[in-house]
Amino acid sequence: MPSCVSLLDQNREDAVARLVIVSNRVPLPSERGPRAGGLAVALADALRPGTLWFGWSGRHSGTVTQTPYVQSADSVTYATIDLSEHEYRTFYVHFSNGSLWPLLHFRLGLMGYRGEDFDGYLAVNRRFADALKTLLRPDDLIWVHDYHLFPLAEALRELGVANRIGFFLHTPFVPPALLQALPRADHLLQAMCAYDVVGFHTRTYRQAFLECVTEMLGARADHDGRFLYRGRPVHAIVDPIGIDPDRFAANAEDSARSMEVRLLRESLPGSRSLAIGVDRLDYSKGLANRFEGFARLLATRPEHRRQVSFLQVAARSREDIGDYQRLRRELDRVVGDINGRFSEFDWVPLRYMTRAVRRTTLAGFFRAARLGVVTPLRDGMNLVAKEYIAAQDPVDPGVLILSRFAGAADELTEALLVNPYDSDAIADAMHTALTMQPVERQERWRALRDKVWQNTASHYCEVFLSHLAADEVHPHSRRLRAV
Ligand code: G6P
Repeated sequence: MPSCVSLLDQNREDAVARLVIVSNRVPLPSERGPRAGGLAVALADALRPGTLWFGWSGRHSGTVTQTPYVQSADSVTYATIDLSEHEYRTFYVHFSNGSLWPLLHFRLGLMGYRGEDFDGYLAVNRRFADALKTLLRPDDLIWVHDYHLFPLAEALRELGVANRIGFFLHTPFVPPALLQALPRADHLLQAMCAYDVVGFHTRTYRQAFLECVTEMLGARADHDGRFLYRGRPVHAIVDPIGIDPDRFAANAEDSARSMEVRLLRESLPGSRSLAIGVDRLDYSKGLANRFEGFARLLATRPEHRRQVSFLQVAARSREDIGDYQRLRRELDRVVGDINGRFSEFDWVPLRYMTRAVRRTTLAGFFRAARLGVVTPLRDGMNLVAKEYIAAQDPVDPGVLILSRFAGAADELTEALLVNPYDSDAIADAMHTALTMQPVERQERWRALRDKVWQNTASHYCEVFLSHLAADEVHPHSRRLRAV
């Protein structure tokens, strides 16, 4: 498969376009820890020599300088800026994660809104644009990621940046009835139209976006997701993110021989009676419902007691935000409750860790687990589902239980798909998985494996960048109806 950069070369005969990635978090080489995953892994193939990655340093303090802090590693340049305390609160804590995150995960009841936070959000996007502009070259291809940066292209355009700019949303997108609950949503939607390409994981998310654009801005897209807004062509595309399955499978095989996996296996009562969940500690992940489903299994089918243990790794996240603090307290209570009810003096049903675990170790844990339990209430994609599949032993694969409200469910239809709000359905799926015959496990796994190996991280980059590089001369853009 050609790399993303070779595609850029093919599409530009004159010169090789530099790729500029912009995201709120930047995986700084000096700070990569056990959590490195997600974006850093997905974009690894795009990071060919010369790439610039720009974003927030993760630091917030009283003193803020406008000049980006620049460091390089493996011929990739990382440029970051700090946020002031006020910017951190308004942009990151309140508007990005207190308004947009709950809204985009269909949780209107958790959505807060204050005009000053929205102003802070716009101001930080303008500051990103100011700092980034000083680093840009005229033919750079700019690829912006996630909901923190909806208005970045608009801010760059106001500074006269005419480069091709693409945007990819890693969360779901909501239909107009929900989006309109957010004050100033029309402003955000207009700002999204300053991008040339806007990417989503699934058709449903793109459809929701196009419905918003039609209802709220009066623009009409063609069958391919192209529309004109204020004279600019915009192309909404579907491009599901993936993982590097070869590397993950190799990690899983290596790690299966590690001390940690050996200790984990020895700690289990049966030979392979482990169910595993790995998530950020976030209310979108449906952890309380999942644990309740496990408790229903133990309550209604006592034959599984002692025979299956559940390991949940829930890495702490966004700890400055009240809803996350409340969630942590709630989960402590739910876990204590379940373990109090079902534990034996020599068996604890639910092992719950809020520390992050290294991805390579997790790969081995996935391989050791008969059940992978991925039941978010909403999730843009969920790469854990794909990692669990990649990690399995082909001869004796485990079973994936997957929420129908994760983007991954669009592709991974041979998993046991469940409604994550329904703890009885989760318990039934666990029972089905624990009693599934090897032939069925292998059949389902082979079908899932083919999909995980088809839509890889590198394929995702290739598709997005080919649109970003090529769309500019697309004949369709001239035939669209102007708004
Ligand atoms: C989700 C978002 C990412 C974000 C990550 C971690 O996956 O889509 O943009 O970086 O969560 O959250 P944090 O708030 O710690 O960056």
